[in-house]
Amino acid sequence: MTDKERKMEEIRANFTQGSDGYDDRIRKIIPRYDEMLEALMSCIPSPEGRRLRAIDIGCGTGAVSELLLRSHPDIDLTCLDMTESMLDRARKRLKAHDNVRFVLADIYDFELDGPYDLVISSLALHHVISDRDKKAIYRKIFDALSPGGWFLNADIVLGSSDDIQEVYMTKWKEFMYQSFTRDETDHVRVPRYHREDSPARLVDHLRWLGEVGFGTVDVIWKYYNFAVYGGRK
Ligand SMILES: C[S@@+](CC[C@H](N)C(=O)[O-])C[C@H]1O[C@@H](n2cnc3c(N)ncnc32)[C@H](O)[C@@H]1O
Repeated sequence: MTDKERKMEEIRANFTQGSDGYDDRIRKIIPRYDEMLEALMSCIPSPEGRRLRAIDIGCGTGAVSELLLRSHPDIDLTCLDMTESMLDRARKRLKAHDNVRFVLADIYDFELDGPYDLVISSLALHHVISDRDKKAIYRKIFDALSPGGWFLNADIVLGSSDDIQEVYMTKWKEFMYQSFTRDETDHVRVPRYHREDSPARLVDHLRWLGEVGFGTVDVIWKYYNFAVYGGRK
């Protein structure tokens, strides 16, 4: 098993264990989680006279997809996740909708079967390990979008320098101390973040999006090390 495969297995095992109670816990880990998703939703396009075709990458328990279905009930939606138990929860949550397809796959390998009007993701792509793979996935997303289509990502990012990153970590820990003990935050949650997550600097994400071809690139929302950003093809 390669290092990458080992890391992905660890991530999958943690989400498998943690799918129970995920929706409550995520709000204790991610500051302003609901506000961040609301910002993500604020830029969703509405193509005139036809159904929106979209994919939610790393849909988890289906929080973003549920919001999408609320604002665009007739959307043609694909929910993709690599962890079976998370995808199962999304399936249950969205069972009333027959316009949703569920795909168990790793975004590294999945051939994005476009064209999509919207590729959306929340708190998933920071698991992509290398900068090279992040950029390759952005290219894949760009290729799968129809002209005028949007890619929108809500995710954890890095500051542009060590001192800014230190501020972000201090603020993030202060937020987690409200729900977890100092011991759990400092010795379990933060080390897990360093071990499993591979965030990149927001300025690099924006540059990569421009380099793969996105015309309009912007940051829609930001709170310290959490951001909603993306681009239009
Ligand atoms: C923190 S959860 C986010 C879930 C949901 N999008 C949300 O905002 O609450 C991250 C999800 O991304 C999935 N994930 C991580 N890496 C992935 C990959 N390479 N391909 C597909 N899914 C992935 C995990 O299985 C997990 O369900």
